Parts: sequence; structure tokens; C-alpha cells
Amino acid sequence: MSIQVEAVAKRFVRNRREVLAIDNLSLEIESGEFIALVGPSGCGKSTLLNMIAGILDCTAGRIVQDGQEVRGVNTRVGYMTQADSLLPWRSAEANVWLPLEIRHVSRQQRAERTKALLEMVNLSGFGKHFPNELSGGMRKRVALAQVLAYDPGTLLMDEPFGALDAQLKLVMQDELMKLWERTRKTVVFVTHDLAEAITLADRVVVFTGRPGRIKLIEKITLPRPRDVFRVRFQPGFQEVFERLWQALEGEIRKGEAL
Ligand SMILES: Nc1ncnc2c1ncn2[C@@H]1O[C@H](COP(=O)(O)OP(=O)(O)OP(=O)(O)O)[C@@H](O)[C@H]1O
Ligand SMILES: [Mg+2]
Repeated sequence: MSIQVEAVAKRFVRNRREVLAIDNLSLEIESGEFIALVGPSGCGKSTLLNMIAGILDCTAGRIVQDGQEVRGVNTRVGYMTQADSLLPWRSAEANVWLPLEIRHVSRQQRAERTKALLEMVNLSGFGKHFPNELSGGMRKRVALAQVLAYDPGTLLMDEPFGALDAQLKLVMQDELMKLWERTRKTVVFVTHDLAEAITLADRVVVFTGRPGRIKLIEKITLPRPRDVFRVRFQPGFQEVFERLWQALEGEIRKGEAL
């Protein structure tokens, strides 16, 4: 068992106003599992990732990874946050090796590892480019390479491809799937795109509107390896999509009524 979220709640207090972002949420994520989280905006998806990453404390409950309670920054996870976290004044390669620099990895090892990582995300030859000289998709790839530089067992990805156009998104999904097939890291992947969730994940978790709780968990049994360009036409995909959409739609409509 890799990550256990045990009856977790998160309450924020801001200007004496309280927001209960997540309430009584329990979830077990298995080692090597690819799990996707979907839910209406503001239901606490990023908050949950922040708690798994140890950046935020739980107000109630706890998160346990490999038998150890998460307290303080969790160095066992790599976290691709919702915001683009590349440093604009560092080249792509210097962004990728930042985590290695922090760990005092030797210059030569750093260079070798960075080269391999840039190759892995299909960016060989772009190492010297600065973030503003790269496309949106390329920046996301650099961010992915940077997270992989830690070689974490677990990857937390918060809407990593959300801002990309539909075609580029598929290309990125394809790369991520191939990488995951090779490495079988545990992935917790937040998305608003239900088709993306079904295409990639072993299980899709639908959250309720705030306070976020689990509304539905659907096991995705589509065979692997999956062809991200074609999987949506496979038998079974549409039925799963409809079931999940119904659960999600209900929560989105509730939010509209508020
Ligand atoms: N640091 C914070 N301080 C105060 N309130 C916060 C903080 N972080 C999140 N919140 C609140 O908690 C709730 C959940 O936010 P969160 O970012 O987790 O939602 P989300 O599900 O990731 O939404 P989206 O899909 O739009 O990214 C929101 O109401 C938000 O305003
Ligand atoms: Mg979010």
C-alpha cells in the first residue's frame, strides 16, 4: 500500500472566514497505481495534493505513505504544481537540474542526468533555451523532466496538460503513458478532462463539490498498453465516460445553483 488518505479534512481560515475545503476524505492509493482525480473547481483537489506533498497540514485525519505519516515536506513525492514553476532566468537544462543542484549532485552527473531527462521528454537540443523561448507544451515537458530529476517513487500532477490544445495534449498523454509503462511510478493526476482521466488511469475518483468528498470511484479496465490516440473508440470507453460524466455533472450543476 503506497498512500493512505485517512478521514482527512482541511479547513482554511482567511480574514476570519472559514472554508471547509475537504471533509472526511479517505482513499487508498496502491503502489504503482495511476489514479486520476476529477471534480468541480474549488472542491479541494489541489489542496489534497498539497497535503500529500506535506506542504499543508491536515485539519483532521492523516496521510500515511509506506507506513509513515506525512509530516512536513514529503521528499518521497515529485510534485508538478498547477502553476508553471519554471524559473524564467534559468535555461531549460538549468531548470531540470535544479533539484540535483540542491542535492549537491556533482556537475558531471548532473549534466548526464539532465541530458537523459531532456531526451526522455523529447527536448534534446532545447536545453539552452529559456522558458520564454519554448512553447507551452515544451515548458510542461521541462517541468516534467524537472520533477523526474528527483526520481521520486510517486508523482503528483496537478492539471499538467490543462492549458494545452487538444492535439498537443494527446502527444503529452502519450509520452506520459509510455513513461509510466516503463517506470510504473505511482501517479496522482488531477484533471478537468474526463476523457484524459479515463485514458490514463487505473481508477478515476470523482469528488463532490466543496467540501470535497468522494462521490464515486470507477475502476478503468481498458487493456494496457493503451493507445491514447484511439482508446476513446474502444468498446467500454463510452459507457465508463457516461457513468462518470453523470456523477460529475451532478456536482457541477449543484455548484451552478449556488
Ligand atoms: N492557502 C489557502 N488559503 C485559503 N483558502 C484556500 C487556500 N488554498 C485553497 N483554498 C480554498 O480551498 C478550496 C479548494 O481549493 P483547491 O485549490 O484545492 O481547489 P481545486 O479543486 O484544486 O480547484 P481547481 O479545479 O479550480 O484547481 C477553495 O475554496 C480555495 O479558495
Ligand atoms: Mg486545483
